Amino acid sequence: MTERQQIEHLRRELHRHNYNYYIKNAPTISDREFDELMVELMRLEALHPELYDANSPSQRVGSDLNNEFTQVKHRYPMLSLANTYSRDEVQAFYDRVSQGLDGEHFDICCELKFDGLSISLVYENGALARAVTRGDGDQGDDVTANIKTIRSIPLLLTGGDYPDSFEIRGEVLMPWQSFEQLNQQRELQGETLFANPRNAASGTLKSKNSSVVAQRKLDAYFYYLLGTTLPSDNHYDNLQRVREWGFKISNDMRTAHSLQEVMDYIDYWDKERSNLPVATDGIVLKVNSVSQQQRLGYTAKTPRWAIAYKFQAERALTRLNEVTYQVGRTGAVTPVANMDPVHLSGTVVRRASLHNEDIIRQLDLHIGDMVYVEKAGEIIPQVVGVDTEARSADAALGAKVEFVKTCPECGTPLVRYEGEAAHYCPNETTCPPQIKGRIEHFISRDAMNIDSLGPETIADYYARGLINNVADLYQLTAEDIMGENTTRLRSAQKVVQGIEASKQVPFERTLYALGIRFVGKVTAKQIARHFGSLDALLNCTLEDLLAVEGVGEVIASSVKHYFAEPKNMEIVSRLRAYGLRFEVAESVPSRQSAALDGKNIVISGVFQHHSREQYKEMIETHGGKNVGSISAKTSFILAGQNMGPAKLEKAQKLGIPLVSEDEFLAMLSEPLVDSDTPTISTQLDLFK
Ligand code: IVH
Repeated sequence: MTERQQIEHLRRELHRHNYNYYIKNAPTISDREFDELMVELMRLEALHPELYDANSPSQRVGSDLNNEFTQVKHRYPMLSLANTYSRDEVQAFYDRVSQGLDGEHFDICCELKFDGLSISLVYENGALARAVTRGDGDQGDDVTANIKTIRSIPLLLTGGDYPDSFEIRGEVLMPWQSFEQLNQQRELQGETLFANPRNAASGTLKSKNSSVVAQRKLDAYFYYLLGTTLPSDNHYDNLQRVREWGFKISNDMRTAHSLQEVMDYIDYWDKERSNLPVATDGIVLKVNSVSQQQRLGYTAKTPRWAIAYKFQAERALTRLNEVTYQVGRTGAVTPVANMDPVHLSGTVVRRASLHNEDIIRQLDLHIGDMVYVEKAGEIIPQVVGVDTEARSADAALGAKVEFVKTCPECGTPLVRYEGEAAHYCPNETTCPPQIKGRIEHFISRDAMNIDSLGPETIADYYARGLINNVADLYQLTAEDIMGENTTRLRSAQKVVQGIEASKQVPFERTLYALGIRFVGKVTAKQIARHFGSLDALLNCTLEDLLAVEGVGEVIASSVKHYFAEPKNMEIVSRLRAYGLRFEVAESVPSRQSAALDGKNIVISGVFQHHSREQYKEMIETHGGKNVGSISAKTSFILAGQNMGPAKLEKAQKLGIPLVSEDEFLAMLSEPLVDSDTPTISTQLDLFK
């Protein structure tokens, strides 16, 4: 089939599926497959603007196929857990906890790590009010309608002693049996199969059609209760209580009183997990006392009071045929093993990462070797070993693999920086994958989100000499894009509109889009919020940067390095001239209540639910004043974890109350009858 025929075929198919879905209410393919067909059509259409058709099914949809749910902000961010893979690391966790609690006794609640997708449910007055996916941790998709179809999730609670308002988190999953039935059914209908129950559960929960969700027999286990008034200080007991309210709680949780008991639990489930009705990918270990959890607190991304122990990944053995090299947007060159196809944890694997030259040397890799492949974090496969016995028997073994000396894309000799394992192509300015990679990153969803462009269009414009860097995008005209082919007008206009619209993207995402090394989404957000504007960032010192949450030496010097480079500054100046946002939008916070009227409040310590900046803003919008140092006039201290001993002493001497984060949030959510000084926190004891 030619690409033209493929486009025509896809358009016919998608029209038919639209009809089945919207008119007949009887879809014959899943939403996910529908989306896949649509993505393929849009990809081909982008390659062939000359085949533009105003009535193509692609014209009905934005390319962001998952944007159909309302985004909801989580009251408490949904963090993930630090992963460990060995018993030594579990021991290290146990020791860290013990040290953090000054040697005090603690119990560990051992739980299974269910392999589905996490969900946050909010209940108000005993009824399910909202169900939200994890999303990016700060906000997720509102999937309440779909969640309501899961029979094991209570819509109304039983028991009566539940708090008026609370949040509970758990895992939505598809039991093995339902998964297998679903795939059998799909096979019969000639539909593509889901790779594993996690994908099936996630594809199902994101479905636009709740009746599809209802048929798919999802299940859910709950493992984390949050709120200002928990039944007790004991996590395990709280979950047993929650069971009485109607939630499904695993029967396989245990409290361990010693490290030995933790290890016994791991040993037991390492073998037994294959007999469970649902997929698990490890064990979760949590400090059982809620007050001890609070004392241990959080790092930027994960709690210090819990970890996940991941079971050994599945392995497969296959033949290495060739090593190729990929050049990324930073110029890093990654060796890739091309192998005979092999099944691994539900997917067929043909290519695997070899990471760097050192790994290739350690493996003493030869073409023709039988290699072991594993999925790291169950996503990207990697070569972890060679079957050396198979090698000695194989006379046809090919040459030893030697890392390339020059860039496979532009021929420039590669460099290896001191202390780094990776090789880089230093030719930032003319090495094509680096240029295209930087532009692809710039337009990506979490960055400028220019969804009228994609890797193919970027490659096309680059090949036609229209763009050479991200600033060039903003000079593109519909005429440039069309070139000789005037039938491209509509799609060209759409591209220009998409680029124009990106000028409204907030500063934090624009900063991320620049692609500064080591500056990911989260770090870009922290930096943008901390400095407020590009000018402030440009004028700051290395020390100023180090003061930003989550920024260490490596990130700080990478940021400095980036802006010290004249070529980068030229691009940034051009972007600024085109009108992109390089300042945090000044939102004048509106007054929300008088709950804190007349209060002078000191903020101290590290917080779990909101940043310090957000607390400052909350104080102001509720009528209070944030003051820097403790004095007799201080009304109270909003106290996070790890408040400094000097401050603590001063507070105690002056009799200034400490208010915990949760208490503070409760003060704002329930309008105070009068604005009396809040009660001294029970947490005061915890800080002694
Ligand atoms: S507790 C702050 N308990 O694993 C701690 N998580 O990598 C919140 N998960 O996002 C998580 N089983 O989706 C917890 N028994 C369990 C779990 C569990 C599965 C998932 C969950 C979470 C991820 C963390």
